[in-house]
Amino acid sequence: MTEQGFPVGEIDTSRPHPARMYDFFLGGRDNYEVDREAAQQVIDLFPDIVPTTRANRRFMHRAVRHLARSGIRQIIDIGTGIPTAPNTHQVAHEVSPDVRVAYVDNDPIVATHAGAHLLGAGNTGFFLADLRDPVAILGHPTIGKLIDMDQPIGLLMVAVLHFVKDDEDPAGLVAAYRDALPAGSRLVLSHATSDFHSPETGVEDAKEVYKDRGATATVTTRSYEQVLPFFDGFDLVDPGLVQIPLWHPEGELPTAAELSHVGTYGGVGVKL
Ligand SMILES: C[S@@+](CC[C@H](N)C(=O)[O-])C[C@H]1O[C@@H](n2cnc3c(N)ncnc32)[C@H](O)[C@@H]1O
Repeated sequence: MTEQGFPVGEIDTSRPHPARMYDFFLGGRDNYEVDREAAQQVIDLFPDIVPTTRANRRFMHRAVRHLARSGIRQIIDIGTGIPTAPNTHQVAHEVSPDVRVAYVDNDPIVATHAGAHLLGAGNTGFFLADLRDPVAILGHPTIGKLIDMDQPIGLLMVAVLHFVKDDEDPAGLVAAYRDALPAGSRLVLSHATSDFHSPETGVEDAKEVYKDRGATATVTTRSYEQVLPFFDGFDLVDPGLVQIPLWHPEGELPTAAELSHVGTYGGVGVKL
């Protein structure tokens, strides 16, 4: 049984799941009525959730290309989400086809789609596990098979830590992963924030939807000062921790108007 109270591999359609709501925000179809209702309520209250999730996905693509170009040949992607092309390994393989990717998520729906979309040439793997259990993740046989803990690793925690509550010690969890990584590894992290949205934008009301509807995880937005310490022990790559469209933008620079709709910080750090 999972913490949520249903057997691993079984899809619970009685409560909204963040992975399936995120899929709906991105225009996907791997969601259920309970997710669509909750997600639509979030959109109605806080329309900027849509440009924010899209910008997050693009940030992930740019950051993974950066990892591969920096010589990283193995990636652990925690909180990978329902497959949405291109996925991490597809982005990395555009740069270098020999990158190995271990995908991890705690939502069984991701497992049901992993076979067709995340597993392929033998250099990817997926397993169900919870970010809040670093021992289980780092000791998992799939990690043992795909990841050499003595070589630099790209660790992705993209749009997942805001599902970890303060009393679950997100900084301590990131530090547990950091301590297992060899020097030269890179952390890619993005995190929802209310820094760019006043309460009138509906951002606070939208977070309440997760609570009111009994979603399997709730959202804790964090300020710049609260997100930055997740990079303790890492040297932040330029331009540092920034609103995600500003991290290595490709093509035209984002305008102030575009930026005003994106509520997420992101950055990449190199383990010292
Ligand atoms: C917003 S999606 C982000 C997906 C992908 N990383 C991206 O940025 O496009 C968050 C994902 O994290 C997963 N997740 C949330 N809490 C988690 C936890 N404690 N352990 C593992 N995965 C978790 C959800 O199931 C969901 O698939």
